[in-house]
Order: sequence, then C-alpha cells, then structure tokens
Amino acid sequence: MGKKTVLDFLDMKGRREKITFLTAYDYPLASFAEKAGIDMMLVGDSLGMVVYGLPGTIPVTMDEMIIHSRAVRRGAPGTFVIGDMPFMSYQSSAEKAVENAGRFLKEAEMDAIKLEGGRRVEEQIKAIVEAGIPVMGHIGLTPQSSGQLGGFKAQGRTAEAARELMLDAIAIEEAGAFSILLEAIPPEVGEAITERLSIPTLGIGAGIHCDGQLLISGDMLGLVEAFTPRFVKKYTNLSDLITKAISEYVSDIKEMQFPEEKHTYRMREGEAEKLEEFLKSLDR
Ligand code: KIV
Repeated sequence: MGKKTVLDFLDMKGRREKITFLTAYDYPLASFAEKAGIDMMLVGDSLGMVVYGLPGTIPVTMDEMIIHSRAVRRGAPGTFVIGDMPFMSYQSSAEKAVENAGRFLKEAEMDAIKLEGGRRVEEQIKAIVEAGIPVMGHIGLTPQSSGQLGGFKAQGRTAEAARELMLDAIAIEEAGAFSILLEAIPPEVGEAITERLSIPTLGIGAGIHCDGQLLISGDMLGLVEAFTPRFVKKYTNLSDLITKAISEYVSDIKEMQFPEEKHTYRMREGEAEKLEEFLKSLDR
C-alpha cells in the first residue's frame, strides 16, 4: 500500500480503524517506524527536549525543524509525515503562519503541518488551509503555552474546561483542519470530541476512544530518562540497553578484547615483508 492521504485517515475514522501515530526526529528511527507500519509520523518540536536536551519546546527554531523533517522524510519516504510549527512561527500573523507552513512542504517535503491552539489560531488555520496545506490542530495540554497553563498539566478536568475544549475543537474543524490532536485530557472529553467531530482525533493521553493514538518515540522506547508522563507506555528500555552496550565497549577496549582478528584488515600477500624491510632501512 502507498503513502496514506488525508482521505484515507477520514475513511479510517468512518470504519473505526485506529490510526497509529509516532514522533520521529531522524533518519534511522523514521525508517524503523515505516518498516513497522506506522500510519503517520510527527516531527514534533518535542525534539527540543528529546534530541537537544532543552527544558521545553520554546527555543526550537524553524530551521531546526526543517533539518529534522528532511531527515525523517528521507527515512520514511512512504509515510504521511507532519511538521510541527515551533513557537512563534505562526502565532503573530496568518501571513507568517502560511510562510512557515509552506517551508515544511517546500524544503522538507512534509505532507501536513501541526499547530497548537484552538479558537485563537482559527485565522492561521484558515489561511494555511487556503494555501492548500493540510493542517492538524492541537488542543488540551499545549506545551508551547505551558507557562500560561501553569505547567505540563492535564486539561479539561472540569465541565467548564471541557466545554471550552469542545468549542476549540469545533472551531478547528470549521477552519478546515483535516485532523486534531488531543493531549492530556480525560477520556470522557476525548470521546465526546471524537463523537462530535467528522475529522479524525488523535490522542496522546486522551483515552481509548480517540480515532488514533500518538506517543513520543523517546518515551515509548525508554530513551528519555527524565520525567515520564502518566499516559506513556514504555515498550522497551533503550537507555538501559544503550548504556550497557557502551559500558561493554569501554571495558573491551581497556582489556584489549576489541578489536578481534575478525575486525581487522590484513596486508596483501608478500606486502608485510616489504614493509618490514622498509622499517629496518629507517634504522640504517
Ligand atoms: O512536539 C510534539 O511531539 C508534540 C506532542 C507533545 C504532541 O506536539
């Protein structure tokens, strides 16, 4: 099967077939995820934390996002990949939003872009869609506004907050987005939004009823040693495996167990003798 499109995701929602979604930031992980059959990938600005060791996503730049998006595209040429608009690449105006969204398609061959916010970015979503670029909305815990939310906290836990999220979700759909990401909200709210909208909902910590699920690759692979959110399921612990492998490498070198004969190149027949002659001649 070829690369999925926005219409395939809509059909999947109609058939109640779950959409699989994972973040990727580089060539190797993107190629493994494509081989594993992931439906869509996100080059998330979470790369600020996962790749660059920053405390949050705020410092991530458009240029950094483009570099990583290109690498992911090369690793996953047959997968629908979404570029994440970093902080201040779309908030200030619709024009700026269109210009930066366009960069993801022109410079990194992304299939779509994602941006954070509900009614307050309605104009930006409309303008980007008008330019022919598919948009994924993102509400709930929106990391770029974590300062305003009082930290990385679950959202929509009161009826009033859930109502606001529903109004945001409706506005995003009406602005023309092809899908919406719901982050860190109760499952009842995830379900209500999923039932109300015609476009697919992707959840990260938004319960089982969303049309698809996203995890951050660094979290589910156990590469991130700092805080792990409640919604993460760790499928392996790569940080332990990698640390163990590097420790063995260090001790092999110290104890001269590496390289072994099978890791070395041999001189061609008769050449070693010639080299020895030459070395002797240096002392004459
Ligand atoms: O940047 C990212 O990976 C995201 C997720 C936190 C949803 O936006």
